Amino acid sequence: MSKILVTGGAGYIGTHTCVELLNKGEEIVVLDNFSNSTPEALENVKKITGKDLKLYEGNMIDRNILEKIFTENKIDAVIDFAAYKAVGESVQKPVEYYMNNVSTVLVLLDEMKKHNVKTLVFSSSATVYGDPEIIPITEDCKVGGTTNPYGTSKLMVEQILQDLYKSDNEWNIAILRYFNPVGAHESGLIGEDPKGIPANLMPFIQKVAAGKLKELSVFGNDYDTKDGTGVRDYIHVVDLAVGHIKALDKLKKDGKGMHIYNLGTGVGYSVLDMVNAFEKANNVHIPYKIAPRRAGDIAACYSDPAKAKEELGFVATKTLEDMCRDAWNFERKNS
Ligand code: UFG
Repeated sequence: MSKILVTGGAGYIGTHTCVELLNKGEEIVVLDNFSNSTPEALENVKKITGKDLKLYEGNMIDRNILEKIFTENKIDAVIDFAAYKAVGESVQKPVEYYMNNVSTVLVLLDEMKKHNVKTLVFSSSATVYGDPEIIPITEDCKVGGTTNPYGTSKLMVEQILQDLYKSDNEWNIAILRYFNPVGAHESGLIGEDPKGIPANLMPFIQKVAAGKLKELSVFGNDYDTKDGTGVRDYIHVVDLAVGHIKALDKLKKDGKGMHIYNLGTGVGYSVLDMVNAFEKANNVHIPYKIAPRRAGDIAACYSDPAKAKEELGFVATKTLEDMCRDAWNFERKNS
């Protein structure tokens, strides 16, 4: 058993990872400021697992709270989820995004260094690949050409982590590049609950199914894809959470190193595939219209998941039907 600090542990991916960590018997300490989450989400994590966790409420930019956490707990490793993640909003609020997604990590790393905690799993994103040169995307593909401050902030932290590792090979770091996380825990107790009108496809579909939004706008049907709509690699959030456990296992086993992994399924689905799958899995109707392309979107983005399979033994096991069923279950239980 080890003690893991989970920053942003009350969020969408954070809560699902906390469940997997607790189920595995790890002790966890969560730091969250609830800027885009609620304390109830953590109560539900406890309900699901029947286990307890320690919570510190605060912002990671605040060195004092990190100092307190590292002094009061013997932390073995950190999983860092604490970040803003709305692509569109990041264009409007670049300072806030760089502050919250980059500056906070610098404070975290500095405190980790001070307390000799050198094991870190970092939440990155497939967005660092920009408009990919080759698909499926391998970890060796060129990064850069990000089109919004959110993506750039993830790229900047990746660079900082690479530099840190170069300076001190005792660090033990896994950068996880997520593709498109969807779905929810099968209990329906935790899931993604964006405030306002959802920007992402799956939460939008959920709201249309629930009758809260009239219809889905499909952003473009003239891409060079099988049906003209955008293709993405949707991964069930519980699979994604398991990916973090596997990454942590690898770091523990190796003791030091710098690793980068794609977390995806390797399968691309179009927007219309998603609409059809959601209708079929849940026996609901999703009205949609074809709308113009959304600025900044690319035609297709899906992973080559071979490296995570080979080195972590990670394979996403949940199906598209599971993703759609669990997303709808969460929506119905929480609206
Ligand atoms: N889409 C629609 N209508 C909508 C919303 C989305 O047609 O109302 C389409 C998009 O055009 C795209 C697909 O659905 O083709 C997926 O869009 P999302 O907004 O759900 O996801 P993105 O692929 O744009 O971005 C997501 C995350 C990013 C992350 C990226 C990594 O939001 O944070 O995946 O691949 F970086």
